[in-house]
Amino acid sequence: MSTELLTALVASPDSSPEQLYRLHEAALEALRSTPDVVRDDDLQLTLFCLNALHYDGLDGVDDAWEWHTELGAVKARIEQDFESALRDRVPVPDRPARLTAQPVAAALFDLAASDTSPGLSRYISSKATEAQLREFLIQRSVYQLREADPHTFAIPRLNGRAKAALVEIQGDEYGGGRPERMHSELFAATMRGLGLDDRYGGYVPQVPAITLASVNVMSLFGLHRRLRGAIVGHLAAFEITSSVPNRFYGNGLRRLGHGELTEYFDEHVEADAVHEQIAARDLAGGLVEAEPDLIDDVLFGASAGLAMDGWVTEHVLAAWVEGRSSLTAATMVAA
Ligand SMILES: [Fe+2]
Ligand SMILES: [Fe+2]
Repeated sequence: MSTELLTALVASPDSSPEQLYRLHEAALEALRSTPDVVRDDDLQLTLFCLNALHYDGLDGVDDAWEWHTELGAVKARIEQDFESALRDRVPVPDRPARLTAQPVAAALFDLAASDTSPGLSRYISSKATEAQLREFLIQRSVYQLREADPHTFAIPRLNGRAKAALVEIQGDEYGGGRPERMHSELFAATMRGLGLDDRYGGYVPQVPAITLASVNVMSLFGLHRRLRGAIVGHLAAFEITSSVPNRFYGNGLRRLGHGELTEYFDEHVEADAVHEQIAARDLAGGLVEAEPDLIDDVLFGASAGLAMDGWVTEHVLAAWVEGRSSLTAATMVAA
């Protein structure tokens, strides 16, 4: 499926209808035959490449593909199965009794606190080898080198308090007017410091489906207006679960002798202790106060974000416990 897609995309968007027909057939066949769309390397890579058309584009691919009708239909078909798989398997908590900002924020903090997935951050802090630290950065780079972009798509879809809150958070994520302080750039600096490739997408071919899925879910929520509650909930959960783990990640880098490369992580210990309050109360709480019907999607987005994070962590730790690489092409990351 992903090979068919990339073959189609290097051609002109006005290319033959047969090619697009083949692409659609390939998508249907891949969706029919996969045991699990969430963990399917081929389908998640396909979705990742299709989403990339809405961000920085793909090298050698005509930007006109972004709004190509038939290609959009292929994407919609894959996303339909992806979203229903998530709605089927992600448990969502009950609504808070009152749909005002404070109880909504409290529900999100409770949800994050009840998350029992084993923390990757503690492993990195106390046990990870140099090679595992590099793998961790590679896994995270698929999102962190574009940090904040999927949630930015929500800005024009919000109003009032929720919109102001999201802009405030995103302003920090993008460095408050200083390009060298952009969180994506701080992450890139850590990667460069460890001799890793900091170009966006450089490691996409090596990460497993579940890592791509954890980024694709943000694009799914961010690029659909009907899912604006979910992207807001996702960001709230992300911010709530960021400050403490980032302290541990920083500790892991210091333990391995990379104390000069911890700026990205140190920044998040501070920034996200503030962001979590704004995201839970003003962004998510403010949105639900304005649009109470969105409460279920806010909780779904938060739960899906936490679940995804847990699944990625399980994948990585399972590999490491068995002495394997968590990447699909392990040879690249020898320390
Ligand atoms: Fe950040
Ligand atoms: Fe943040």
